[in-house]
Amino acid sequence: MRLVSDRSDVQPFRVMQMLDLVHRRRREGRDTIMLCAGQPATGAPAAALDAAEQELRASALGYTEVLGDRQLREEVARWHSGTYGVQTPADNVVITTGSSGGFVAAFLAVLDHGDTVALSCPGYPAYRNILESLGARVVDLVCDEATRFQPTADMLEALPAEDRPRAVIVTSPGNPSGTIIDPQELARIARWCEDNDTVLISDEDYHGMSFGRPLATARQFSDRAVVVGTLSKYFSMTGWRVGWLILPDELLTPVENLQASLALCAPAISQVAGRAAFSEKARTELDGHVETYRAARRVLLDELPKIGFPRFAEPDGGLYLWLDVSHVTDDSEAWCHTLVEEIGVAFAPGVDFDPVHGHRWVRLSLCAPEEETREACRRLGEYVNRRS
Ligand SMILES: Cc1ncc(COP(=O)(O)O)c(C=O)c1O
Repeated sequence: MRLVSDRSDVQPFRVMQMLDLVHRRRREGRDTIMLCAGQPATGAPAAALDAAEQELRASALGYTEVLGDRQLREEVARWHSGTYGVQTPADNVVITTGSSGGFVAAFLAVLDHGDTVALSCPGYPAYRNILESLGARVVDLVCDEATRFQPTADMLEALPAEDRPRAVIVTSPGNPSGTIIDPQELARIARWCEDNDTVLISDEDYHGMSFGRPLATARQFSDRAVVVGTLSKYFSMTGWRVGWLILPDELLTPVENLQASLALCAPAISQVAGRAAFSEKARTELDGHVETYRAARRVLLDELPKIGFPRFAEPDGGLYLWLDVSHVTDDSEAWCHTLVEEIGVAFAPGVDFDPVHGHRWVRLSLCAPEEETREACRRLGEYVNRRS
């Protein structure tokens, strides 16, 4: 009997496999520095923990409204409007099970089987895996140093007629690149999408984390754009599994109906805790975490060239640095596994993010404390020296 569908034949998510390996090593008491995952080590802000503790005793924790806890929707809307000077009505915010849950609902609401979606390459692998399993066709926008690893409106304009996409996904700050799309370029992309009947899906999961460059939301330029956000990154609440979509009016009912069947609602306790994560007190705590990412970034920018790794995308924000390792390997997956075994340092192999060139790249996370990041560089330098 055949149990497995053809559509489930998607690539493994190698970063998660590496993370499992780190967990296993740590369980066995083996020292491992984790630079593979984009996961804040800090945990939820104190205000969110207090709110969760109280709610746990006080409430039966049933399902929330399908579109999400009203107060949390209002907090997201206030934060988004206040940060970017846009009008974001709480009615257009939908709370989802991590932004991952939001992507599935948004893709289902926007795309029909066989529709084309343009993605930057390198890019976040789950988009491709979800889209392919849903029967969408992915077109790569190949990005390199020339555009700081981000797509441009010119790239969209240059697509042949048969590749004109139904939707475009942009991610800024990027994963794995850590680069930010300049607001003027995001405006051009948004205009191109409106002019070409293409839905712009803007993954803004890493907003709140810029090291200096201005960050724009797609809704500054188009109220037809779908914006995706999360508590997993800046808000340091990864395992609580809360994200959101900010949707144009027409998509609200389709997403509500899909979400009602896909998830019923996002986790109730996490939504209550999430409200408190937007408070001023929590934001001060969270801004402090961004300073630790900035410090880790500084260590990598200083140390990597010294130990023989001078080519990388300089992170403008977010949690990653995309590193060229082509002079030491043409199999970054095997290389990452060797590094974990031999020096106890875990990087993410680039093949997840770029199926064509990723075997010559790795992604480093900025989430480890400054001293661990420095130690990882020291071990890597020593390892490379030993072998040369
Ligand atoms: C670009 C990007 N989008 C979406 C996600 C999914 O995040 P979550 O489901 O935790 O909100 C991630 C996770 O790393 C990511 O890097």
